[in-house]
Amino acid sequence: MSLSMTMSQPKTEHAALLKWVNKMAEMCQPDAIHWCDGSQEEANKLFDQMVDKGMAIRLNPEKRPNSYLFRSDPRDVARVESRTFICSNSKDDAGPTNNWENPRIMRRRMKELFKGSMRGRTMYVIPFSMGPIGSPISQIGVQVTDSPYVVVNMRIMARMGAEVLKVLGKDKFFVPCLHSVGCPLEPGQKDVHWPCDPENTHIVHFPEERTIVSYGSGYGGNALLGKKCFALRIASTMARDEGWLAEHMLILGVESPEGKKSYVTAAFPSACGKTNFAMLIPPKEMKGWKVTTVGDDIAWLKPNKKGILHAINPEAGFFGVAPGTSYETNPNAMESCRKDSIFTNVALTDDGDVWWEGMTEKPPKHLIDWKGQDWTPDCGRPSSHPNSRFTAPIQNCPCVDADFENPDGVPIKAMIYGGRRMTDMPLVFQAFNWTSGVYVGATLSSERTAAAEGTVGELRCDPMAMLPFCGYNMADYFRHYIKVGHSLSEIPRVFHVNWFRKSKEGKFLWPGFGQNMRVLRWIVERSNGLGRSQESPLGWIPHYDDIDWTGLKFSKKQWEELMAIDRERIKQQTISHENFLIKLYDRIPKELIFERELLLCRLL
Ligand code: OXD
Ligand code: MN
Repeated sequence: MSLSMTMSQPKTEHAALLKWVNKMAEMCQPDAIHWCDGSQEEANKLFDQMVDKGMAIRLNPEKRPNSYLFRSDPRDVARVESRTFICSNSKDDAGPTNNWENPRIMRRRMKELFKGSMRGRTMYVIPFSMGPIGSPISQIGVQVTDSPYVVVNMRIMARMGAEVLKVLGKDKFFVPCLHSVGCPLEPGQKDVHWPCDPENTHIVHFPEERTIVSYGSGYGGNALLGKKCFALRIASTMARDEGWLAEHMLILGVESPEGKKSYVTAAFPSACGKTNFAMLIPPKEMKGWKVTTVGDDIAWLKPNKKGILHAINPEAGFFGVAPGTSYETNPNAMESCRKDSIFTNVALTDDGDVWWEGMTEKPPKHLIDWKGQDWTPDCGRPSSHPNSRFTAPIQNCPCVDADFENPDGVPIKAMIYGGRRMTDMPLVFQAFNWTSGVYVGATLSSERTAAAEGTVGELRCDPMAMLPFCGYNMADYFRHYIKVGHSLSEIPRVFHVNWFRKSKEGKFLWPGFGQNMRVLRWIVERSNGLGRSQESPLGWIPHYDDIDWTGLKFSKKQWEELMAIDRERIKQQTISHENFLIKLYDRIPKELIFERELLLCRLL
């Protein structure tokens, strides 16, 4: 008897949920409905079925226990921003940085696509909690999907299953998330290893209704709807309406040798080393300093009753970019995916383990690459896709923070913005105050990476690293940000960092990775009212002597090159931000225009 037939009884009396699931089933016409309980047994059965069908490869249990490899269709390898829509009632509410469509037209289009889209497949119902189950900051969603790959990934990325239905009770609010890979099967038709419909992919958000509809893609943020769609796009609109922030930010804890703990969030555009920073290991010479991880991608920040901003990580797993991750660059990430993990689009070794570019200095002599072809080091092709991923439970991470599951979240002292900037921007500066910090975030720019479509290397303005993830008008988002800061009794300090500056000869000026702890120490001390600084046109910057150099040879001359502010260049850049800000001209808060004028004056 198939899994769906044995376990399809819903364990809920939530009338609205039952009605919605029935309606979706009527439209999508699946062969079976399976209500997920989130158990290991259920996951094992799904993995077994996927291995039997050739959709997944079970990795060698001695090398990589309880772990699986998937290879996607080469046309379905990243988020598709060009097919992502915010369908608010008014086009202005989506704003010029989002794709908008009239919700009525979009709903009709979606109905056409979803009609019969699950024929020949099972519809899985996934109740999930973003954030610790039962936390006042958490939110509940229910995703229906015809992808068992999505089910096993959601089980790692969110708290999922029977426990969530209990919290949902008979009538609690949930965000309905509808997903189909868009490949119905005719009776007797053989399935492909990665069903998808790239020509018709749509990732659609209805912010007023708080619903998500995704069709055609099975990959990452397009399909694991709790992540970018819910925890950022829909949650950002909830946050706007309710006075909090849903941000594309990692959360980490810094413990000083005296045992004082400070929590910091940091926003970097996709694939800029957020996971590495979130799990940083301080240099051993910086005795007694410790970093712990609350999250590597998303933070929900809410003022508590005393007006102090508290953050939770709504996710329960890492969906990390694999290439470049190694025991050298990020041992904690490597340990996190040592077991119980899912790998997508990386290479398979001859002994049944995984490999990707940068995992070891010397590549194996032979691999099966992400497209299933033989690979040798001299074949001229990368073995893994640049946006290949590992999905790993946060609880596997050796440096997971003790308060990761704390329903009240952790108090935030500082917020950091960072970009990938080869030629300019000093290593670190502190914004003069909250509003100038919002300006720094609003003008955040970075060179493009492979996490999304587009030309790699091109500089793009990515406000608060939220350009692809803000569920409403970006100018209103800036206004909301300013307002939230001013509602707090303790305002976090705001910083900008750039780990990626290069010399004229093209060499990185800063060693990065664990050495970033030296910058983090200065940031934490500044945020606690300690730590010296000097004024610069961009903000407060450390003197050479304000940084802890124990155990690192880094000369004052190197420091000066790294921290140099080329006034003329920054001025030109500030002026060029106009191209971006002008798009938002009719709603941009006047505070930001004022900040820009002040900066230009300081650069004279
Ligand atoms: C991610 C992204 O996958 O930002 O986290 O694209
Ligand atoms: Mn991200």
